[in-house]
Amino acid sequence: MTEKDIVLEVKDLHTYFFNRRGVTKAVDGVSFSVREGETLGIVGESGCGKTMTALSLLRLIPKPAARIVSGEILLDGEDLVSLSDKDMRQVRGRKISMILQDPQTSLNPVFTIGNQLIEALGAQGKNSRKEMLTKAMEALRNVRVAAPERRLDDYPHQMSGGMKQRVIGAIAVSASPKIIIADEPTTALDVTIQLQYLRLLKDIQAETGLAIIFITHDFGIVARMCDRVAVMYAGRIVEQADVRDLFNKPHHPYTQALMDSVPKMDRTDRLRAIDGQPPFLWDLPEGCRFAPRCINAREVCTKSYPEITMHENNHSVACFMSQPEWDN
Ligand SMILES: Nc1ncnc2c1ncn2[C@@H]1O[C@H](COP(=O)(O)OP(=O)(O)OP(=O)(O)O)[C@@H](O)[C@H]1O
Ligand code: SF4
Ligand SMILES: [Mg+2]
Repeated sequence: MTEKDIVLEVKDLHTYFFNRRGVTKAVDGVSFSVREGETLGIVGESGCGKTMTALSLLRLIPKPAARIVSGEILLDGEDLVSLSDKDMRQVRGRKISMILQDPQTSLNPVFTIGNQLIEALGAQGKNSRKEMLTKAMEALRNVRVAAPERRLDDYPHQMSGGMKQRVIGAIAVSASPKIIIADEPTTALDVTIQLQYLRLLKDIQAETGLAIIFITHDFGIVARMCDRVAVMYAGRIVEQADVRDLFNKPHHPYTQALMDSVPKMDRTDRLRAIDGQPPFLWDLPEGCRFAPRCINAREVCTKSYPEITMHENNHSVACFMSQPEWDN
């Protein structure tokens, strides 16, 4: 297989909150890239910065409390961090799109599905309403909604959770974006519907070459959906690898602890708690952020933050144990 083009490259991204408590380092030096047709999973405990990373990519972080302090977000080579708000509005939805964490709040309850689709599609050109309705039906058909002509006049409350999720998916891909970010899109759905929906996203990806960033707590979903995985802890990515490498040989003690916290036979369960709590992001320890919970921690771990070490197969780890000096 030839290597596909990189669609999105994030370099050393820092997004901080500034409030009375001080500085909260929600995203603190995050780097990754996603290729055409590839799915990158982002996993990690609650509060580690997954959603803030996603919102930073779309430049939708809460203002004025949060700010992208530094870093680059290169989408097809264009740095989104330096775009004006006006130019960013052209990028959002068209080139980069997001399925939000809570499907119940993503659709507007007072507008019909047809009108919401038309609004999403409307940004694309100056077609008549009839043409737009045809496009809206096509968008619903693409996400496998049966008899779409009968759905256009429905309001969100008239649809099941799974159907609403499909409509949200249709809106997100309506403008043929290069990349879509799905933030826990399936939490409110039952397992069968979840699997159908995930399959649908993969089908759309196979047809269009869409790149996907998939944010989840669920290793089962990671195994099904993702080509690569980034494990986040306290605002940073501590390990990144192809999905098979990560499952076969997790290097970072945090990844190992996460994996040990789900059943061994099939990792289809959601993450269970591992001992201890992550640090507050406004009061971070000086050294490795996982040190207070790490069974392997040594003195060096509390002194400075471990740099990222690259292993074979593009497997990166931020842990002193992965460095040659560790055994000395
Ligand atoms: N509105 C806010 N004001 C201040 N700090 C915030 C706000 N939203 C998030 N944060 C900070 O940013 C950190 C990262 O939040 P984020 O929502 O990205 O976590 P997450 O990894 O998506 O968690 P979850 O799995 O629960 O969705 C939080 O731990 C919190 O400290
Ligand atoms: S750097 Fe040290 S404390 Fe941090 S994960 Fe590695 S061994 Fe544990
Ligand atoms: Mg989140």
